[in-house]
Amino acid sequence: YNPYLEYVKDELFLEGVSLRELAEKYGTPLYVYSASYIRDRLREYRESFPGALICYAVKANFNPHIVSLMAGEGAGADIVSGGELYVALMAGVNPSRIVYAGVGKTVKELVEAIKADILMFNVESRMELEILNQLGEQLGKKVRISIRVNPHVDPKTHPYIATGMKKSKFGIDIDRAEEEYRYALSMKNIQVVGVHCHIGSQILDTSPYVEAVSKVVDLYRSLEDQGIELQYLDIGGGLGIKYKPEDRALTPMELSSALSPILQKVKATVVLEPGRSLVGNAGVLITQVQFVKDKGEKHFVIVDAGMNDLIRPAIYDAYHHILPVVKRGRPSIVTDVVGPICETGDFLAKDRQLEEVGRGDYLAVLSAGAYGFAMSSHYNVRPRACEVLVDRGYVRVIREREDYQYILSKSS
Ligand code: LLP
Repeated sequence: YNPYLEYVKDELFLEGVSLRELAEKYGTPLYVYSASYIRDRLREYRESFPGALICYAVKANFNPHIVSLMAGEGAGADIVSGGELYVALMAGVNPSRIVYAGVGKTVKELVEAIKADILMFNVESRMELEILNQLGEQLGKKVRISIRVNPHVDPKTHPYIATGMKKSKFGIDIDRAEEEYRYALSMKNIQVVGVHCHIGSQILDTSPYVEAVSKVVDLYRSLEDQGIELQYLDIGGGLGIKYKPEDRALTPMELSSALSPILQKVKATVVLEPGRSLVGNAGVLITQVQFVKDKGEKHFVIVDAGMNDLIRPAIYDAYHHILPVVKRGRPSIVTDVVGPICETGDFLAKDRQLEEVGRGDYLAVLSAGAYGFAMSSHYNVRPRACEVLVDRGYVRVIREREDYQYILSKSS
């Protein structure tokens, strides 16, 4: 999962730091991320796609320290809201490396991003184009855009995270794209600079990318043949990571090899928007066993992390591997690992083979760095977890644990 995650004498360490000690010091539930892992993944992207612009998808993990780590390594940002623009700028991402997607951008958000002079808007509808043109006029700016095209490709992933299929709400149908590009070209305050697509997330196979990028490259060439000058070919994010022990991640190098014959057909700056593949396996969620109960037919390990901390199992039926933070060499059992929240969907693992644990033991939930904390909530008035970044033995709290006053601070 992560080469920096390893057992030393039966105790789990991340980048040389004992996860048991972190849990004892900062409490649980606790997110711990590995900085070296993130740097390695970014380097891998840069080496696989030389000359490309890597825009980290902030939605995967919006902690400003994580975003700033990316910015320090030269990455840009892929954002989907005014809040993400705010984080990206605060974390030091150069606006000339920010791309902005999303089907429902508000006027406030659009104005903020135009004023920040971001690289481009990935426009998802004709109405958005019209509003951008108006706002450009009001602000005296020419707004750079790409059109997000929907290439009608099945990425073979969970339906909730497939975004480029015919019936999805995202983008403009590829068959109608040329018409929209011509319309955009007629607008005084719009500058057309590229083509964008993003077909989905947790994709483990190159073939949907090959299919989608071929279509998008054809469009790019056809637009250029009509004298439309373009510069950016944004192929989105979506590379899948290892969740189950038997999974094999799709690596940037594999994607690059599969796409290079197609990408060679255009002279464009390639833009990538990886999220999960940069941070997913950088992070673990440490949780403490509260109770254990056996109901005859089923065994339950009840922990202090719930669906409000990690919602992926509940909404995507996602698998997250779980390891004991301290191996005790006890026999293994088959159990559900569940949270304290009053919903049956509040589970981290079902029918999982796990070393028997007892009250007070710590468990590490793996692959929790992406869409973990970022999707957490206050459900059941539960303060959100503490986040810690480890970097070659150094430990830094990058987000303090919340308290009740914080949760209610706007409710007066
Ligand atoms: N670009 C765009 C336009 C996106 O919508 C997304 C993700 C990405 C890039 C980054 O995709 P990634 O490289 O992380 O796969 N909450 C879900 C994942 C939702 C992904 C949404 N869009 C989950 O936990 O699996």
